[in-house]
Amino acid sequence: MEVFTLKTHLGARIESLKNQGKTIGFVPTMGALHEGHLSLIEQSIKENDSTVVSIFVNPTQFDRKDDLEKYPRTLERDLYLLEQTDKNMIVYIPVAEDLYQGTVEAKHYALNGLDKTMEGKYRPGHFDGVATVVHKLFEAVRPHKAYFGEKDFQQLRIIQTLVENLKLPVEIIPVKIYREKDGLAMSSRNRRLKPEMRQAAPFIYQTLKQAASMKPNHSPGEIKRQVELAFEKHPLLRLEYFEIADEENLQPAKKFDPRKKYRGFIAVFAGDVRLIDNIPLN
Ligand code: PAJ
Repeated sequence: MEVFTLKTHLGARIESLKNQGKTIGFVPTMGALHEGHLSLIEQSIKENDSTVVSIFVNPTQFDRKDDLEKYPRTLERDLYLLEQTDKNMIVYIPVAEDLYQGTVEAKHYALNGLDKTMEGKYRPGHFDGVATVVHKLFEAVRPHKAYFGEKDFQQLRIIQTLVENLKLPVEIIPVKIYREKDGLAMSSRNRRLKPEMRQAAPFIYQTLKQAASMKPNHSPGEIKRQVELAFEKHPLLRLEYFEIADEENLQPAKKFDPRKKYRGFIAVFAGDVRLIDNIPLN
């Protein structure tokens, strides 16, 4: 396994791989790796000659200072897991100032309004931070394919839009949500859950599945009300939002158009840990 921290060193290695005609797959992460991340990494290993995994807790995408400070960091264990997965992996652990070249701040991106709803509404500036860092990571790694989880569906759509708008030479590959046996979507933040919150958290996916089952006979508004009621009655979990949105433009749906695809999107506080999830409504 090779580990790089500087853009010039990584760039030289990528250049030499490309000169040998090798294809490069890329999985950007913020570390605290779990099986969800590994499912992206394994898919990249299957589909490319070389896989680059980046680990970088990107400060510019955190809207709350305490969330950035408390974000789990398990670098040694991450490196061990990656080594176990594939000895030929390239790991990129950027130094913030080198990746950002000077001040570590987000740029503003035109994202066709996809950054205005849901996560964008509740976490101001978040998607400018994500777009900035992913754009910089793409320039550093220059991958043929890059893998993003549907767990962060809005992020995935935003990266697809960024790539289209800027005509970046990379193919974005979506990967399905990887869940715990009890349905909770895997997340680095899950390790911060207190035991009683961890026990309560599968309620999120159960409620999403109920919402999906209502689709044939109910309007988006009725489904939304049902989800809100379920959380009003819940003693531990606090709903931040539940929204039914068009998969294409992420705008909230007023009524279902049979030609379009929809998803239910949710954000919930389990104590001070904020969890997100989503479900297709087909
Ligand atoms: P992070 O939360 O570490 O996630 C890295 C990638 O793993 C993302 O594409 C995310 O959607 C995917 N992922 C996380 N949990 C998953 C799960 N349970 N099933 C499937 N995929 C899952 O997302 C980020 O980091 C950052 O915003 C980043 C893109 C690295 C930019 O800083």
